[in-house]
Amino acid sequence: MRVLVTGVTGQLGHDCVIELQDRDMEVRGVSSKEFPLTDAGAMRRYMEAYRPTAVIHCAAYTAVDRAEDDKETCMAVNAEGTAALARLCRDFHAKMVYISTDYVFPGNGTEPYEVDAPKDPKNVYGQSKLAGEEAVQQILKRYFIVRISWVFGINGKNFVRTMLKLGQTHKALTVVDDQIGSPTYTRDLAVLLADMIQTEKYGVYHATNEGFCSWAEFAAEIFRQAGMDIKVTPVPSSAYPTRAVRPHNSRMSKKSLREAGFLLLPRWQDAIGRYLIELESLKEQEEMAAQG
Ligand SMILES: NC(=O)c1ccc[n+]([C@@H]2O[C@H](COP(=O)([O-])OP(=O)(O)OC[C@H]3O[C@@H](n4cnc5c(N)ncnc54)[C@H](OP(=O)(O)O)[C@@H]3O)[C@@H](O)[C@H]2O)c1
Repeated sequence: MRVLVTGVTGQLGHDCVIELQDRDMEVRGVSSKEFPLTDAGAMRRYMEAYRPTAVIHCAAYTAVDRAEDDKETCMAVNAEGTAALARLCRDFHAKMVYISTDYVFPGNGTEPYEVDAPKDPKNVYGQSKLAGEEAVQQILKRYFIVRISWVFGINGKNFVRTMLKLGQTHKALTVVDDQIGSPTYTRDLAVLLADMIQTEKYGVYHATNEGFCSWAEFAAEIFRQAGMDIKVTPVPSSAYPTRAVRPHNSRMSKKSLREAGFLLLPRWQDAIGRYLIELESLKEQEEMAAQG
């Protein structure tokens, strides 16, 4: 199996490449430089030369707030770019994994969304990711659509890093508690994706760490496990207005993942613990490198 991973300079793409390398699989990770989603010709040339048998498509325009004022670019990358890549997967007989998001759902109610629940994205980014899903489903038969949420990994900015940084200068923080979802540690997701591409169990899945929490609960647990004495005060979303609307309900059901026989990801609290260790060892490596 020869795997192409898009978005290698991002959080998930980085960890997918590491996971596949650890399994001694043939893999190449690409960024927007060598594999621009807005240039179908360049992508075709790359596919012709590498001829992957599977593509894990992690790359995306992920600036959710900026997308509200930059719809054209967001759609060009997430919708048209994904459609162009799906056509290439079809032409080169490659399986495709498309990483999508909880933002395709309307975000109301309190029940976990099933994979086939009605879609109604409330922001431009969500609309573009849904258009990407629809293109993949129209163009391909051999696809996996994997919706994830609240991503954190070693190779990028994320909520955990933001909290740890704020915790260095604050004794108390206010954090939103009326948005409920599930964090996704890219290390854990990469294990699932590496398993998934080796099967023919095509379809739509939700994959996050197990359990639900609010952002405030997420923050409190980060500080607890990091041994930082920071008071977290829950506040409503209205306290932090954002350019793009965020869903209140990001709970997603794992029924299809379970029924297909895939292993569920560990609980989110467990993932935080392992991420903090990963951050610590990165810090040690950087300190050692700085000392020469
Ligand atoms: N982050 C979240 O909380 C979250 C939640 C739900 C779903 N997701 C989905 O999960 C996936 C991975 O997210 P992430 O957080 O790992 O992303 P990320 O860290 O923001 O990285 C984005 C990646 O996409 C690449 N990219 C951006 N524009 C591109 C273009 N025009 N052509 C080619 N590559 C381009 C970037 O490459 P360059 O560095 O070269 O620009 C980078 O490698 C995405 O599909 C995202 O939509 C993320």
